[in-house]
Amino acid sequence: MATTTPDEPDQLIDVPAGLRGVAVTDTRLGDVRGAQGFFHYRQYSATDLARTRSLEDVWQLLLDGELPTTAAERDRFTAEIGPLRTVPDEVSDAVAGIARHGGAGLGGLRTALSLLAQADDMPPLWDSPPQRRRRDLLRLAAATPTLIAALWRHSHGLEPIAPDPTLGHIADYLHMLGGTPTDTRAARAVEQYAMLTVDHGFNASTFTARVVASTGADAGSAVVAALGALSGPLHGGAPSRALQLLEAIGEPSRAAAWVRAAIERNERIMGFGHAVYRGDDPRSLLLRHIAQDLGGDLADFAISVEAIITATLAELRPDRHLYANVEYYAGVVMATCGIDRQLFTPTFAVGRTIGWTANIAEQAADRRIIRPAARYTGPPPPQPVPELNLDPEAR
Ligand SMILES: CC(C)(COP(=O)(O)OP(=O)(O)OC[C@H]1O[C@@H](n2cnc3c(N)ncnc32)[C@H](O)[C@@H]1OP(=O)(O)O)[C@@H](O)C(=O)NCCC(=O)NCCS
Repeated sequence: MATTTPDEPDQLIDVPAGLRGVAVTDTRLGDVRGAQGFFHYRQYSATDLARTRSLEDVWQLLLDGELPTTAAERDRFTAEIGPLRTVPDEVSDAVAGIARHGGAGLGGLRTALSLLAQADDMPPLWDSPPQRRRRDLLRLAAATPTLIAALWRHSHGLEPIAPDPTLGHIADYLHMLGGTPTDTRAARAVEQYAMLTVDHGFNASTFTARVVASTGADAGSAVVAALGALSGPLHGGAPSRALQLLEAIGEPSRAAAWVRAAIERNERIMGFGHAVYRGDDPRSLLLRHIAQDLGGDLADFAISVEAIITATLAELRPDRHLYANVEYYAGVVMATCGIDRQLFTPTFAVGRTIGWTANIAEQAADRRIIRPAARYTGPPPPQPVPELNLDPEAR
């Protein structure tokens, strides 16, 4: 990357608030082209990959740099991941206690992943040889569905279900959640959702993962930090908010009036608008197809209401380009596939940990710490340090 660093140690370069539009590193993992309504993983369109490939293929592409081109290559990678979904006994034993405190949400997952990193004795990225580093990164992403499912089942008074390494990653996740043989259509739909959300530019959690990786810390620390960033309401999103919107609208004939009233109250319509895309969000386009294929009342309702909301927003806010975003259909697809809405954000994390770990691997190869600066805006220093009044009567 072409960089300009200040000549003097105290010289600062101002950047836009929130680092908007600032390229802080180079990446070969992909990017988001908002104006074109396009995003890609390495050189391949992410939506094409989600249509034609498996999550494991995308995982291999992101982490190892190449898509498998033969069944044998695919099988080798899949066979590597399967056993890594089984977590050590000391971790599975502790999950019941974690579920009691952290529930089945991201907090529980964060604690369980941190414990797994300890149990696996993950060395600092700085010191770990490439094979060990790769194994730790695979392990963290592989074990995520196991931990989410075990936390979920414990928090509902159910025994966890052991992973089945012969199943695909998402099919096994659904199997561990529900215990019944998984509907292959549902597994494919959730897999496609995960493939569409594995990575999406230099978002806050990805940046966080890379900052921690740049310090040379262990892979577990980087993933746990990223989860912390994801848990914030401005980032992790909540596909459940879009479902709440559909419930509030109730029936298509009420949609336009509902949107008008909400906009008059200066509220935002959940599941619409995007910071980067000004036209259609490519993820929502594919998810709409997936929802349509799955069928069902919820999907039909969401599709008919989307058109009404889009038209009403275009009329009320002609200055803005407000279209359905990924969250609008994510909730519809997950709910139709039987995933409880409390699990929407953890399910998002199943795919996203794969993206984080690929980013961590890339960052760890660049052995330079990310260390920006802050502009001090307090009273001019140095002020004399006030004396402490030792009089016991002084208040
Ligand atoms: C996603 C989101 C934060 C992106 O916002 P953004 O493009 O950075 O735009 P801003 O937040 O600067 O808003 C720009 C304008 O569009 C309006 N706007 C943006 N999204 C809107 C929405 N969903 N409903 C109504 N108005 C919206 C804002 O009120 C603002 O209007 P103003 O200029 O009169 O103040 C925003 O569209 C939003 O809040 N959407 C709803 C929440 C959501 O679906 N989040 C999931 C995102 S994947």
